[in-house]
Amino acid sequence: MPSFHCITYGCQMNVNDSAWVARSLVKMGWEETSMEAADFVFMNTCSVREKPQHKVLSMLGIIRDVNPKASVAVAGCVAQQLGEKLWEKNAHVRLVLGSDGIVYAPQAFEKIAKNPKLRLSYLKFTKEFPDRKPELDYFKNIPLLPTGSAEESTKGNDTRAFVNIMQGCNNFCAYCIVPYTRGRQKSRPLASILNECQEWLDRGICDLTLLGQNVNAYGKDKASDTPHFVELLYEVAKLRGLKRLHLVTPHPRDFCDATVSAYKELPVLAPRIHLPLQAGSNAVLEKMGRGYTNQEFMRLVEKLRLARPDLALSTDLIVGFPEETEADFQETLRIMKEANFISSFSFIYSDRPGTRASKMQNKVPANAGLDRLNRLMDLQNELGEKWLASRVGMETEVLLEAKSAKPKYSEITDNSINIETVRTALETIDDDTENTSWQGHDVWGNTVNLIIPNDLAYKAGDIVSVKIITAKKHSLLGELIQK
Ligand code: SAH
Ligand code: SF4
Ligand code: F3S
Repeated sequence: MPSFHCITYGCQMNVNDSAWVARSLVKMGWEETSMEAADFVFMNTCSVREKPQHKVLSMLGIIRDVNPKASVAVAGCVAQQLGEKLWEKNAHVRLVLGSDGIVYAPQAFEKIAKNPKLRLSYLKFTKEFPDRKPELDYFKNIPLLPTGSAEESTKGNDTRAFVNIMQGCNNFCAYCIVPYTRGRQKSRPLASILNECQEWLDRGICDLTLLGQNVNAYGKDKASDTPHFVELLYEVAKLRGLKRLHLVTPHPRDFCDATVSAYKELPVLAPRIHLPLQAGSNAVLEKMGRGYTNQEFMRLVEKLRLARPDLALSTDLIVGFPEETEADFQETLRIMKEANFISSFSFIYSDRPGTRASKMQNKVPANAGLDRLNRLMDLQNELGEKWLASRVGMETEVLLEAKSAKPKYSEITDNSINIETVRTALETIDDDTENTSWQGHDVWGNTVNLIIPNDLAYKAGDIVSVKIITAKKHSLLGELIQK
């Protein structure tokens, strides 16, 4: 049987797609191995900014150098964009799978494995949501929590599952290439979503994320068997075994009042929302075509906080959009503070071919963009640290994910705890085989480290009660509350 290796760039959709492809290949009897040894390399790609696209092209060269015999499949956004052009300079690329073409990966791999001269491309956008064949899924009908026997990419995640509910985007924000690489929005039928969710839950996974480029526009394309987004939320919330439900990524414009109410009525919805602001200045938002003003964004934030007082928000931000002035940028800083984002992904604007913004005049010089990015990240670090510090002393629920390196107690500089006791704890733990260090996440997505006695027999996927004892720069340290 052939062997394969998986490389993934880009967003959670890509991670999710790659995990499915890898599991399908394992199900077909293929063996997962290193890049140096694999017969086939599956590379799932991102073109949202110039840098990830460059990485893809240089990785093709690296694969050729380290494993000249390997055949490569390029999938995802770069594949959709460059198509069969990828064949021109890359004799080892034998499969090109666009965004909707990924569902054909298992059959396509089988074909090119049988016929070494064959090259195939699947680049057409489908009319409907390209549902994956569940019978190819390696996990299908395995009732137990995966134990980690398969390699990383086939494993997916043992404690959290991501369920794709839509594909593509109709927004055409001026800077964004996604509508071109992922095509028009296509919602997945309700029954298919609920089936997949229940399957994960039956396997003991209690933390689900509904995924889509514009997740709360679900149903707006009026495909068959797709209710309004909020109805989908209520249906998923009813499923047996669900403890935490997240959404990635909602668009502020599509956040209707009914969805805001769902945050009040459905405790299972995690009180953490990733809500991309992109820019704080109304002039820039207008040029981006985001469909909201900063006042409208803040009104939404206020409504959400009324519905869920414990809400924490994170965001995506772009600096240096064409014509962005220092005064515009100051608006971004202002709204960041007002919305009190606990974290953000921030990017310097990058020209993408074919987008409206790429044709705009008065591009912001690279050094000004970098300077703004640095100032933005300074503010974000400050807001993030304040948020983590505010968690100290709180009791919270932590989903255990993995045994971790021992929390570095010696690095703690927080004066709010007694360093002496903690140091002693460290010394006792050093030669202590009775305890395990765990890493997990609270319901806001904060990373929490804690130590649990082994005789309590906790395992990945369990939820435990924890008291937060200190905040580090990017994570929290807690103590198990034994009940
Ligand atoms: N659908 C999601 C975002 C997908 S792309 C949404 O609308 O929020 C992920 C992030 O990449 C975007 O939120 C944006 O902040 C960033 N991004 C997209 N295009 C970009 C570009 N041309 N330059 C810089 N950042 C960009
Ligand atoms: Fe990259 Fe965007 Fe495509 Fe995701 S959707 S792979 S982030 S270009
Ligand atoms: Fe769509 Fe998000 Fe871009 S909504 S157009 S992918 S920024």
